[in-house]
Amino acid sequence: MLKMRRICHLIFRLLFLLDGGVWSLRNLSISVPRAVLSGEGQSAVLRCTYDLEGVALYSIRWYRAQTEFYRYVPREMPPTMVFPLPGASVDLAASDHQQVRIVNLNRRLSGEYQCEVTADAPLFHTDIRAAPLTVVDPPFRAPRLSVSQRTYSRGDVIRANCSVDEAYPAPNITWTLDEHKIAESVSWWTFEMDFKERGAFSQLELSVLEAEQYRVGLSYTSSSLARVYPDHHVYREPQDQDVVRYSMVAPAGGQFQLGCVATIHDIYARQSEPVWVREDAPRPASVTGEDSAGTKSRCSLLIIIISAGLAL
Ligand SMILES: *[C@@H]1O[C@H](CO)[C@@H](O)[C@H](O)[C@H]1NC(C)=O
Ligand SMILES: *[C@@H]1O[C@H](CO)[C@@H](O)[C@H](O)[C@H]1NC(C)=O
Ligand SMILES: *[C@@H]1O[C@H](CO)[C@@H](O)[C@H](O)[C@H]1NC(C)=O
Repeated sequence: MLKMRRICHLIFRLLFLLDGGVWSLRNLSISVPRAVLSGEGQSAVLRCTYDLEGVALYSIRWYRAQTEFYRYVPREMPPTMVFPLPGASVDLAASDHQQVRIVNLNRRLSGEYQCEVTADAPLFHTDIRAAPLTVVDPPFRAPRLSVSQRTYSRGDVIRANCSVDEAYPAPNITWTLDEHKIAESVSWWTFEMDFKERGAFSQLELSVLEAEQYRVGLSYTSSSLARVYPDHHVYREPQDQDVVRYSMVAPAGGQFQLGCVATIHDIYARQSEPVWVREDAPRPASVTGEDSAGTKSRCSLLIIIISAGLAL
C-alpha cells in the first residue's frame, strides 16, 4: 500500500521534472530531539517544517520505523488520525500539521522517525525526512570510582576503575583530573536495537612522572580528549577491558582529584564521588623545577590509549 503510493509519487515527480515545472514543496526539514528520558510525564515534540509555496497541504504523516502513527489531513473531518504506537501515546492537543507530541515513552520506541509531507492536487508532491530519537533509561546510581591507592610516589602507576549501572543506551564514561576531562571511553553497541540495558566500565592507568622524565623524548598533546572505541563488529561484554593510559607531571601542589562521569547523549550526566590522591612525601614546589605554569603543564597531556580489544 505504502509502496504503491510511493511509486505513484515517483512517477508524478518524474513527469513533473520532464515538464520543467516548479516544485510546490520545498525546504522540508525535520527536528527531533536526539534523546529524551523514558517514563510517565516525559515527552518528545517532533517537528517538520516545510514550504508549500502557496499550495495547500494534502497530508503530513509520521512514521516510526516505517510504521505510521500519526496522520493529519486538513480536508478530512476530523483531520487527525492516530494509529497505535505501543509504548507511548500521541498528545493530540499538542499535535497538528507541523508537529506531533508523544508522551510517556518507553525505550523500545527508540529508533528512526520520519515525517512525510504531501502537497495538494494536482501534483501531490511528496517529500520525506528522517531523524533518530533515543529514549533513555538512565542508570539508577551515580558511577562508582575505585582507585588502587590514595597516596603516590613519583613514578607510580595509579589504577582506577569506573563502573556504571545498567542503562539504555550504555553510557559513555569520561575521566576527569582536577575537573578537566582527560579521556573518554565510548560505549558502542552494534546491537542497540535489542533495547537491552547495559552497564559501562572503564579502567585508567595514570602514571605520575617527574617533570624531567615527562619531557625526555616524549611528545605530548595539550588538552586533547582520548577516545576508546571498542571493536564495532564484535559483541563484547562491558567487562572486556579497554585500558586508558595517561601520564601526568607530578602536580606542584602534591595532590590531585580524580573523577569519572557517566553521560548519555546530552540529557544525562552524573559524576562519581571524586577521589583525592596525595603525594607520600611532598617536596617544596621549588625543588621540583615546576614553575608557575605547573598547573598548565599538568594539562599538557600525553595520552596513550591502548585498546586491549584492538591490540588483540
Ligand atoms: C529554501 O530553499 C531554497 C532553495 O530551494 C533556498 O534558497 C532557501 O534558502 C531555503 N530557505 C530556507 C529557510 O531554508
Ligand atoms: C579494577 O577492575 C579489575 C577487573 O575487574 C580488578 O581486577 C581490579 O582489582 C580493579 N581495581 C581497582 C582499583 O578497583
Ligand atoms: C558516546 O560518545 C560517542 C562519541 O562521541 C557518541 O557518538 C555517542 O552517541 C555517545 N553515546 C552516548 C550514549 O551518549
